[in-house]
Amino acid sequence: MSCCFGLITALLFTGVIYAEDGSSGWLRYTALEESAARSYRQPAPRVVTAIGDDALVESARQELIRGIRGMLGLRLRVETRVSHESTFVLGTLGGLRKAAPQLALAGNLEPDAFWLKTVTVAGVRYTVVAAADARGVLYGVFGLLRKMALGEPIDRLDEKQTPYAPIRWVNQWDNLDGSIERGYGGKSIFWEGGHARQDLTRVGEYGRLLASLGINGCSINNVNADPRLLTDDFAPQVARIAGALRPWGVQVALSVDFGSPKSIGGLDTFDPADPKVAAWWKAKADELYRAVPDLAGFVLKADSEGRVGPSAYGRTHADAANVVARALRPHGGKLFYRGFVYDHHMDWRNLKNDRARAAYDNFHPLDGRFDDNAVIQIKNGPIDFQVREPASPLFGGLQKTNQAVELQITQEYTGQARFLVFLVPMWKQTLDFDMGPATVKALAAGKTFHRPTGGFVGVANVGMDSNWTGNHLSQANLYGFGRLAWNPDLSARTIAEEWTRLTFGGDAKVGATVTDMLLKSWRTYENYTGPLGLQGLTDIVGNHYGVSVEASERNGWGQWHRADEKGVGMDRTAATGTGYIGQYNPAVARVYESLDMCPDDLVLFMHHVPYTHRLHSGKTVIQTIYDLHYGGEATAEGYVGEWKPLAGRIDEQRYRAVLAQLEYQAGQAEVWRDAVNNWFLRASGIADDQGRVGHHRGRVEAEAMTLDGYTAVPVTPWEAASGGKAVSCPVARCAASIRYTGAAGRFILRVQYFDQNNGSAGYRVQIGGRPVDEWVASARVPSAKIDGSTSTRRTVTEIALRPGDTIRVEGMPDGGETAALDYIEILPFEN
Ligand code: GCU
Repeated sequence: MSCCFGLITALLFTGVIYAEDGSSGWLRYTALEESAARSYRQPAPRVVTAIGDDALVESARQELIRGIRGMLGLRLRVETRVSHESTFVLGTLGGLRKAAPQLALAGNLEPDAFWLKTVTVAGVRYTVVAAADARGVLYGVFGLLRKMALGEPIDRLDEKQTPYAPIRWVNQWDNLDGSIERGYGGKSIFWEGGHARQDLTRVGEYGRLLASLGINGCSINNVNADPRLLTDDFAPQVARIAGALRPWGVQVALSVDFGSPKSIGGLDTFDPADPKVAAWWKAKADELYRAVPDLAGFVLKADSEGRVGPSAYGRTHADAANVVARALRPHGGKLFYRGFVYDHHMDWRNLKNDRARAAYDNFHPLDGRFDDNAVIQIKNGPIDFQVREPASPLFGGLQKTNQAVELQITQEYTGQARFLVFLVPMWKQTLDFDMGPATVKALAAGKTFHRPTGGFVGVANVGMDSNWTGNHLSQANLYGFGRLAWNPDLSARTIAEEWTRLTFGGDAKVGATVTDMLLKSWRTYENYTGPLGLQGLTDIVGNHYGVSVEASERNGWGQWHRADEKGVGMDRTAATGTGYIGQYNPAVARVYESLDMCPDDLVLFMHHVPYTHRLHSGKTVIQTIYDLHYGGEATAEGYVGEWKPLAGRIDEQRYRAVLAQLEYQAGQAEVWRDAVNNWFLRASGIADDQGRVGHHRGRVEAEAMTLDGYTAVPVTPWEAASGGKAVSCPVARCAASIRYTGAAGRFILRVQYFDQNNGSAGYRVQIGGRPVDEWVASARVPSAKIDGSTSTRRTVTEIALRPGDTIRVEGMPDGGETAALDYIEILPFEN
């Protein structure tokens, strides 16, 4: 061992860039640059003393030792008392006042808050991390280490940080079989094959990541809850999971099914007004709290998307929430009742129907009727995590009821971990939005109406993938959620800069590039998918990923945009529409109600207008749709060029993984751009004034090539394929070729093909008989069809072409995947 220590230390401090798999997230503690390390080493104590035997304080001490060793290469000596030597001193205010009165720590702190303080006594400098409780001590250590990783001074500290709200939770939508609803980072870290995993190491590691952000609660199963979780078998399993998270101050919560008293409890009813049902919930809570004394509570999705609820007995949501909340109350538990309640069988023909009204209509009349340990958990917008929505009017509609804002960290409607979409700017827009009485963040935190509790819930859905979130860049959303839950006044830029530096190191070019990409990524994604408040335009009845402009229409799900040949948008005005806008405070309603004042970003969410309607920009709606899609696609294409100069500045493993992701995203952005624009061109009949839509330089449709075995097939939805058609191979091997007739030169060849998830088809490209590329279509894309989700781009750069050359693309199907092709594009090669 000793033989290698010197070598390891030397490597650590010579700036060698190691391959990284992303598992450490933002807690890498890699060696600081020598000059920074020196500036910390000199004043940094060599000793740590943690007062108290709480497991969280022990985690704090271990974390400090780990961080200092990683960043500074120093091994802290552990002492149990505060001596006359410079020391990191950790503990609660109460504990420190007793054990080290010489530090003279005055004043009080709120729960979970911390105080970083440099105290000098008789010439000896102590770096103190104090808090009201053990959890705060842990948070303080993470705060201190973050400062060092960010290069901030720690020699004269006097900083108190208090979390903005008591509720800072994540929800995981994990199923007991190990799958995760809307999870894009692999299998569940909690469950496998119907049971808690044997090895819960990753759960502990997740707890550490969460604690570093100040997150204090985690529900561990899908809101579409499996009632089995409340059967006797599961209490010890939940206890094991809670045990893995407990050292990190993260309390476990469970999602429950409202029908449980009947489905697993042996009762003939789940009527919340029935005393038997109340007794059942109470006995169940008592039993669970015997196994998990610090259980945080339950999450309940009732009367929503097919889940049973109080309506089965003509009872209200308050009746339902209270019967469960009362069972939890003696144990200090909370009941999170989801505000996501709507009718998904609405008649789409009735222009007055509006899903956006549902949360307010359901819960506003019940304000004041929920118990004090019940919290209404409200999605940021009135629909469902779309790329842009206004703030839910329900935030302003509850004054005598606890509320929490629910944000979606997992990128369900925002690219499913395949695209770079940093959601913090979007969340900030909601949290900072002034509802009239106050901002959303103040209302959600319970500040405005002095509620006993409130705060922030993020749907995280991390998984077993080494990088947790399915790709490296999506981790920024988990980080950003946690930072906002702690302090929603932080700017998106600060959060982006912090995350980039912690995740990729201190290289200034990396910092500037990644921060810039993060900050523009939401707008970019919105532009090439559904701008102007159109929402996702994705396959809303399927995988919520690929483009399908009409999937939202003519069904009961209510995500309508009502585009037809005359115009587009939902009329939600009080004057002529659904009346949704009337749910806002008059000051807000006035702005949305008026077409003149309504912001362009939401105009089609609030109003139905002709395509020729002119926006504040002076441009028509239709031209804006075209332009934004071209602009968004170009920015997404540009990411690749922005990322490439970072080669060698970050580790190769993550560099390559992100590059592949950005290249894929660039291809997808083109699919979206063309699909949405072609759809609106056909619907409106109005041409793009720049002549781009429907005309593509260098594009050759596969169905127009010479086909050997391939047959042309229609694609559904038609806009997902160029020309509405693809070619598909019904035999073992097919080919599509053309003879090149242009001028000689160097080119980029793009092949647009369909990478279904029901096989791994092979592709080969030859030019003039010479092989130039081959690949296997084996990506994890959520569709087995030839559609907008599977349409994928392969780029072959710098090929030489001469007139007369044959370009031949061969496809070898596999399983159900038919090696389908959409088109090729031959574009000039530009350095
Ligand atoms: C979305 C999501 C569902 C989820 C639901 C919810 O609709 O697609 O998978 O169950 O939200 O938040 O309950």
